[in-house]
Amino acid sequence: MKILILHGPNLNMLGKREIDIYGSDSQDDLFNYISNSFLNIDFSFYQSNHEGELIDKIHDSADVFDAIVLNPGALSHYSYAIRDAVVSVNIPVAEVHLSDVENREDFRKKLVISDVCSFTIIGKGKLGYIESINKLQDNK
Ligand code: DQA
Repeated sequence: MKILILHGPNLNMLGKREIDIYGSDSQDDLFNYISNSFLNIDFSFYQSNHEGELIDKIHDSADVFDAIVLNPGALSHYSYAIRDAVVSVNIPVAEVHLSDVENREDFRKKLVISDVCSFTIIGKGKLGYIESINKLQDNK
């Protein structure tokens, strides 16, 4: 199985930003943890701080990957363009958030991409990624 782990804005700052919320692992630590947890899966990892680059990556994934695990960062709360990109590809997209967005600022409660994703996992830290990949494998 080929899976793209796709990260939106500011996730390159993991390990430096709001450690009390996101933990001390860097993004590379997280990516290594994921790939070491599933030796049978062929992963690609991509992060961008730019909405259009994320959209291009989603479009380009359709014929390349079996699924996407998407943490859109703050774009989760307002990007209808990313939502439309998810709808435009015929592969499952799982949404993951490290933090518990339901119990933070009010603006984080609104997730505009969730209902077009296969499922959404919030607030489980890096284990949320593991759970999402297990689910994607089970549904394959
Ligand atoms: C996040 C939650 C978002 O609200 C925030 O903007 C992020 C990270 C998470 O993984 O918990 O950048 O997506």
